[in-house]
Amino acid sequence: MNTLSRSVGSPVSRVDGPLKVSGQAKYAAEHFEPGMLHGYVVLSTVAKGKIATIDVTAAEGCPGVVRVYTHLNRPKAASRDGKWQDSVAPPGSPFRPLESDEIQFDGQPIALVVADTFENARDAAALVVATYESLEARTDLAQEYRNSYVPPKKRSGIPAAPKPRGDAEKAYSEAAYKVSADFRMDGEHHNAMELFASTVFWEANGQLTIHDKTQGPQASRDYICNVFGLDADDVTVKNAFVGGAFGSALRPKYQLFLAVMASIDLKRSIKVEMTRREMFYLTWRPSTIQTVSLAADEHGILQAVMHHAVQATSTYEDYQEVVVNWSGLAYKCDNAKLTYELAKLDLSTPGDMRAPGAATGVAALEVAMDELAYEVGIDPLELRIRNFVHRDQDNDKQLTSKALHSCYREGADAFGWSKRDPAPRSMREGNDLVGWGMATGFWDAMLMAAEAEVRYSADGKVTVSAAASDIGTGTYTILAQVAADEFDVPVDDVTVLIGDSTLPTTGVAGGSWTAASSGSAVDAACKAVRKTLLSQAQEIESSPLAKASVEEVRIRDGRLVLDTNSQIGVSLADILASKQMSSISEAGKVGPDLVQMMSFKSYTHSAVFVEVKIDEELGVLRVTRVVSAIAAGKILNPKTARSQILGGVVMALGMALHEEGMIDHRTGRIINHNLAEYHIPAHADIERIDVIFVDEHDDKVSPIGVKGLGEIGVVGVAAAVSNAVFHATGKRIRDFPITIDKIIIDKDALQ
Ligand code: MOS
Repeated sequence: MNTLSRSVGSPVSRVDGPLKVSGQAKYAAEHFEPGMLHGYVVLSTVAKGKIATIDVTAAEGCPGVVRVYTHLNRPKAASRDGKWQDSVAPPGSPFRPLESDEIQFDGQPIALVVADTFENARDAAALVVATYESLEARTDLAQEYRNSYVPPKKRSGIPAAPKPRGDAEKAYSEAAYKVSADFRMDGEHHNAMELFASTVFWEANGQLTIHDKTQGPQASRDYICNVFGLDADDVTVKNAFVGGAFGSALRPKYQLFLAVMASIDLKRSIKVEMTRREMFYLTWRPSTIQTVSLAADEHGILQAVMHHAVQATSTYEDYQEVVVNWSGLAYKCDNAKLTYELAKLDLSTPGDMRAPGAATGVAALEVAMDELAYEVGIDPLELRIRNFVHRDQDNDKQLTSKALHSCYREGADAFGWSKRDPAPRSMREGNDLVGWGMATGFWDAMLMAAEAEVRYSADGKVTVSAAASDIGTGTYTILAQVAADEFDVPVDDVTVLIGDSTLPTTGVAGGSWTAASSGSAVDAACKAVRKTLLSQAQEIESSPLAKASVEEVRIRDGRLVLDTNSQIGVSLADILASKQMSSISEAGKVGPDLVQMMSFKSYTHSAVFVEVKIDEELGVLRVTRVVSAIAAGKILNPKTARSQILGGVVMALGMALHEEGMIDHRTGRIINHNLAEYHIPAHADIERIDVIFVDEHDDKVSPIGVKGLGEIGVVGVAAAVSNAVFHATGKRIRDFPITIDKIIIDKDALQ
């Protein structure tokens, strides 16, 4: 680790910021080529059944229309037999458009209209006429709950529910205090600012350059090569800038398939961009119905934890998240029974959405913990402290670090938690009932395989390259910081090249692991450059560094010097000149430490404190303050880090209060497929949010001590809001989102 850091740990502004605010950063749909084609997708208007007829003659006769593709004339792709897996993250058999006449979900693409302009394609698409043999669609999780099943095959990388430990049923029945409650969470729909889009540039030699909205350019490339039988050398995927993704762009979406299919077939460049409406049919956060049962003794010490979750999936994939496992590792408890099942709905396969599984599972656990605190009659924060655990009991492993006590303490101090009157409806301000609630948050800290290359040039400039992605998180900036410190140059002297499948191998940007993984790969590459520089310096006659080891030298002010005495050293220019080189570049590579993983697990932690004010007569709820105290190891950049947590909190307030995918279960159709009727937090909904990063030193989680921040900001927030609503009103709301009707519907709650 760098000891003399000056960039790492500083609030460096995004290096890509000026390009973004001046409109020069080009997103997937913003690349053009004269004469290129445009595709527009036609969507099914039934949720289940078969296409009986599809008439494209009117559309084909429209001005500028080049081709209309349906299942009847779609060019062949690699065959699939139902078991065949596409090469994607997360693994599975994602929906492929125009494959057959079968309709599996509302909004399924049934045709692609290709024309000379977007407007012509859209006009013609309106004239495609389909008739259906429609079947009854089952889209109500409450109805399908009874048909739930244990996933037959676990999703790769996603642990199944842990085996039960102790005897939770018995401990529960014998305990002095207990709570058992059901929770319902509606589906949420991914709506990043940037729509899914793929721009495919076709070259005469058959090579494709594709600008795709993705969290992994190599994942999209591999998918395309797999599906269309192309050579990896002939396909380049770029995602230099991504306008938000949050998990939605881990998997390739159908517009990528359609754009590449049409490009190969027509031998033309083409762009297919989704409409906002299309975003609502894909990769949604699955709805859940959960039951959490907790029991404690008279001191509030947990005796039993039981958590059962049934989560929605599609009819054609067993999509899985880690929903219940958190309940077994959150607090010390020797009797735990956690069960996780799926229920099939006639909707598209759900997908990862920022803190998948934890956002929903921890919300249920943390509301139940608040209920238990009231049962036992102790402070909710005190209940959590009394049940603190220093081990991962699910996996029976040690933790690499857990500074959660600091989160509790610093968060509570900043919020003023000690001034809370615990009685519901006890705190008021004018017409408002004031409620204070809190919760704990948990997320994984993971190191994934990642590679990077670093080049140092004689002019003192540094270039970092990796097929990593910046999905709005700050990857460009933090990778520049890591390299800047190693070479002792300003961040402005570092160029970061990412978002290109031809660069050193890197997985998708997900799971909050990019900073730890790619940051460590860059660090390793920098050290490899330093090592080479040292060996070259030692070949110089009477080298002052002749006896130094690589650990003993640092780059300072353009020279390779002894760490203990910066006057002893050789200038980098002289080292390069001695070899007649104008630059030097080395590769770095990191991956999970499999031996360490046998005894250790790593998590990020948070303590979230929320204040709500609820108009007693109107039931209008405002979240007036949030304090989120985070333990996530080393913070590379407090500015981009804070932005990650702010964004996570805002997104979680959407989950807690606004976001609600509404389905007409009579037809299986999604009703509110637009941002007018699907509510998300707007500026006026967001008041004060304070972010605290507590000190946490972790020398095991990743080579650079970083844990990752993309997701932890979400976890726990919805529970803290619900707990604050209870404190304000005396009404426990376990059905998310907490909309005004749920607050006022029970007249007793608000007199
Ligand atoms: Mo994240 S939901 O793994 O991109």
